[in-house]
Amino acid sequence: MPGFPMLEVRGLHARYGAIEALRGVDIDVAQGEIVTLIGANGAGKSTLLMTICGQPRASAGSIRYEGRDIAGLATFEIMRLGIAQSPEGRRVFPRMTVEENLKLGATVADVKHYDADLARVYKLFPRLEERRAQRGGTLSGGEQQMLAIGRALMGRPRLLLLDEPSLGLAPMLVKQIFATIREINAAEGVTIFLVEQNAYHALRLAHRGYVMVNGRITLAGPASDLLANPEVRAAYLEGGH
Ligand SMILES: Nc1ncnc2c1ncn2[C@@H]1O[C@H](COP(=O)(O)OP(=O)(O)O)[C@@H](O)[C@H]1O
Ligand SMILES: [Mg+2]
Repeated sequence: MPGFPMLEVRGLHARYGAIEALRGVDIDVAQGEIVTLIGANGAGKSTLLMTICGQPRASAGSIRYEGRDIAGLATFEIMRLGIAQSPEGRRVFPRMTVEENLKLGATVADVKHYDADLARVYKLFPRLEERRAQRGGTLSGGEQQMLAIGRALMGRPRLLLLDEPSLGLAPMLVKQIFATIREINAAEGVTIFLVEQNAYHALRLAHRGYVMVNGRITLAGPASDLLANPEVRAAYLEGGH
C-alpha cells in the first residue's frame, strides 16, 4: 500500500563535462514501495542514483525527498536525512573486517542504536555474522554484496538506493539477495529504489518500474505490466534472464 510521496525527481539533468548522462528524468517513489529502474549498460542508471546522493550535481531539474528539495545539499547532509546507497561494484573496504565495514555505515546514525542495528543486519544476513572478523576483500562476490547492503542499512535509512545488487552473482545467490530485499521492504518498511540490468528479477520483485534509455525515461508503469510489455520483453527479457 504506497503512502506519501517520498522521492520526486522532475526534469533532472546531469552531465560529465560534455557528456549529458541524464536528459530530463522524472521519477516518483512513494513511501513503502519497491520501485525499479531498468535499462542497458550506459543508460544513466548509476548516474541517477549518484545525482540523488549529490555527486554529480544536478545541472537542471529538481529532486525532492520527503517534500524537501535536496538537489543543492552535500552528500553527507542527504545521507543524514535518511537516504542510503549501496553502490555498484559493492565498494567494500578490502583490508577492514566485515564488522569494521558495517561500523562505517553507522557513523551517521545515533551511536546508541549501534548494537541493535548490527544485530538486525546479522539477522538479515547470517553469513555476515559468521564472517564478522574476516577481511572484506576475502569475501565472495555475493558476500560482498550482502556487506554493501548491510552497511547501507546501518545508517537506518528510510529510502534505500540499490545499484545492481545482482551484478556478477550466481543465479542461486541472486534469488537470495532479492528475497532479502523484499524482506527489508516488507518486514522493516524501508522504501527501495532498485537499479538493475537483471530486468526479469527486478520486475518480479518491484511494485512499479521505469525503463531508461540514453538518459531518458521511455516507459513507466506497474512492474507486472512492464514484464508483459512486448517492447520490454524484446529489449530486456528475451534470450534468457
Ligand atoms: N565519471 C564519469 N565520467 C564521464 N562519463 C561518465 C562517468 N560515469 C558515467 N559516464 C557516462 O555516463 C553515461 C551513463 O553512465 P551510467 O550512469 O554509469 O550508466 P548505467 O549505470 O546505466 O550503466 C555513460 O555514457 C557513461 O559512459
Ligand atoms: Mg550502472
